[in-house]
Amino acid sequence: MPVTSATIRSMHWSDVQRVAALEQQLFPVDAWSPEAFWAELALVPHTRCYIVAVDSDEQIVGYAGLFNAGSDADIQTVAVAPDAQGRGIGALLLRSLLDTARSRGSSRVFLEVRSDNASAIAMYLAHGFEQLNVRRDYYAQGVDAVVMRLMVKHE
Ligand SMILES: CC(C)(COP(=O)(O)OP(=O)(O)OC[C@H]1O[C@@H](n2cnc3c(N)ncnc32)[C@H](O)[C@@H]1OP(=O)(O)O)[C@@H](O)C(=O)NCCC(=O)NCCS
Repeated sequence: MPVTSATIRSMHWSDVQRVAALEQQLFPVDAWSPEAFWAELALVPHTRCYIVAVDSDEQIVGYAGLFNAGSDADIQTVAVAPDAQGRGIGALLLRSLLDTARSRGSSRVFLEVRSDNASAIAMYLAHGFEQLNVRRDYYAQGVDAVVMRLMVKHE
């Protein structure tokens, strides 16, 4: 795995503008609005965890979010700026969310990912997720969603 110098910290309200700009760039068809991120941040820490990855200049190069309720959790999003991809930042963000899910007592973590998103699916498989089923025509333009699940190991 490539070595990254990025570090993880909590997402702040003041990060929303930069995060929403990245979101628009990475998910042009169904990007979350700034308001959607504000609504999510309002639920931190009760049922949400939102983090950003920052480079050595404190610039945001990625972000990720988790929803947790009871024994289940969902990965809401994991995203890395195009020019920072392939350096281990997505994996760093994902591992941080999984640590949070574990510390909050989650037994199972679920996610949905576009069936044509080979790099994301590879990342999730590499972290122990398994494919549960496929939701047909789940995304715009008739793209299927792959539903994946990770059983969380507690010591
Ligand atoms: C998916 C995404 C988050 C991965 O982030 P990243 O920082 O590029 O990924 P990493 O460098 O941490 O790589 C982690 C793993 O992902 C997989 N991966 C990453 N890029 C890949 C590629 N181009 N092809 C195949 N697998 C890839 C590999 O399994 C890799 O592990 P390895 O380096 O040990 O082989 C990033 O590509 C992204 O933001 N994509 C656009 C937004 C998106 O699709 N998010 C996911 C929504 S569910």
